[in-house]
Amino acid sequence: MADLFLADEAATAALGHRLAGLLRVGDVVFLEGDLGTGKSTLARACLQALAGAAITVPSPTFTLVQTYDFADLAVWHVDLYRLAPGTPVDDLALDEALEAGALLIEWPDRLPADAYPERLAVRLAWPAHGDGREATLDPGTGWGERLEALRAG
Ligand SMILES: Nc1ncnc2c1ncn2[C@@H]1O[C@H](COP(=O)(O)OP(=O)(O)OP(=O)(O)O)[C@@H](O)[C@H]1O
Ligand SMILES: [Mg+2]
Repeated sequence: MADLFLADEAATAALGHRLAGLLRVGDVVFLEGDLGTGKSTLARACLQALAGAAITVPSPTFTLVQTYDFADLAVWHVDLYRLAPGTPVDDLALDEALEAGALLIEWPDRLPADAYPERLAVRLAWPAHGDGREATLDPGTGWGERLEALRAG
C-alpha cells in the first residue's frame, strides 16, 4: 500500500520540499524506483528548496556524486545506477558526507543489503492505472517522528 499518491510532477516536487525542511546532518535518504519514476525530480526539488533558488541540479549518473554546500548542511546527491556490481561501498567514501551533511542516493539497491539501516527509503512506483506516481515511505531509526511531517501533503 502506497503512503502517498503524487498526482503530478508538482506533487513529487512538494514531497522534495518537505524532505528539505526535515533533512539533518547524518541523514541518509534512499530514492528507489524504476527508470522514470521521479527520483531525480524529488532530489532536484529538495536541493532547490535547500538552496532557496532554482539552482541547476545535474544528474549524477555519470559523475556518481554531486555535492552541494548549503549554510547548515552539505548534501551529496548520489546516483549508483552505473556502479559496477560488487563495488565495495567503502570505495565511494560516502560516509565522509555524513560528518557534515546528508546523502540522497538514487539506485541504492547497488549497495550491500545491510548498508545504512538508519536510512529513510522513499519508494516511487507507477500506479496500476492512470497517471501520477505512488510513494511509499519506509523510515529507518530516527525518522519515526519526522514521518508524519513528510507525509502531510
Ligand atoms: N508524480 C508525477 N506524476 C507524473 N509525472 C511525474 C511525477 N513525478 C515526476 N514525473 C515525471 O517523470 C519523468 C521522469 O522523472 P525523473 O527523471 O525524475 O525520474 P528518475 O526516477 O530519476 O529516472 P531515471 O531512473 O531514469 O534517472 C519526468 O518527466 C518527470 O517530470
Ligand atoms: Mg534520475
